[in-house]
Amino acid sequence: MLKIIAAHDSAFLIGNKNKLPWKVEEDIEHFRNEIKGKIIVLGRITYESLLQIKDNLDVSKIIVLTSNLNYDPKDDKVIVFHKVFDILRYSQDNEIYICGGSKIYEEFLPYVDQMIITEIKGRYEGDSYFPLYNKNDFKLIKEKKLSDQATVKYLNHLKKESKQY
Ligand SMILES: NC(=O)c1ccc[n+]([C@@H]2O[C@H](COP(=O)([O-])OP(=O)(O)OC[C@H]3O[C@@H](n4cnc5c(N)ncnc54)[C@H](OP(=O)(O)O)[C@@H]3O)[C@@H](O)[C@H]2O)c1
Repeated sequence: MLKIIAAHDSAFLIGNKNKLPWKVEEDIEHFRNEIKGKIIVLGRITYESLLQIKDNLDVSKIIVLTSNLNYDPKDDKVIVFHKVFDILRYSQDNEIYICGGSKIYEEFLPYVDQMIITEIKGRYEGDSYFPLYNKNDFKLIKEKKLSDQATVKYLNHLKKESKQY
């Protein structure tokens, strides 16, 4: 089982200089609750941007995707993968949360079962975006208002690629 979890603003912005463009505590809390005890996947850039707080994330494992074959995070909780398909294969027996960033969302989007998207109201400044996708490929199954500024949408993928990995 593969899920994307992300937050974007009204223009699908997700990041600014490797940080979140906003401070929305309710969304941080929601994110922490959703990934609690789970296996998460991070692109190398997002992983490095979270180094200061990664020990406070209550997850069972962090998978980092990088092309660097010598990458060694020196952390027992972290596993390094070098290929998208190896993670897809791993997701057949494990529930995995794809936690960004932009490149990682783009690469995994065709294969996810569900997206958990926080819509942050308004437009912010930044340089990193959630990939374009066809809304008709997803079905809204649940909506949760976190605050006046943030609403979470649970979207099931209707056209998930069913390649054999
Ligand atoms: N709003 C949100 O929900 C949210 C969540 C997470 C992140 N973000 C934001 O997203 C931005 C970062 O996104 P990003 O696209 O720059 O970086 P990223 O997706 O975090 O990481 C990209 C890196 O992942 C590795 N990678 C990607 N595809 C690969 C593949 N097929 N095989 C091997 N390695 C692969 C590469 O690492 P190497 O260069 O080491 O090969 C690549 O440079 C930041 O601004 C961050 O704050 C936002």
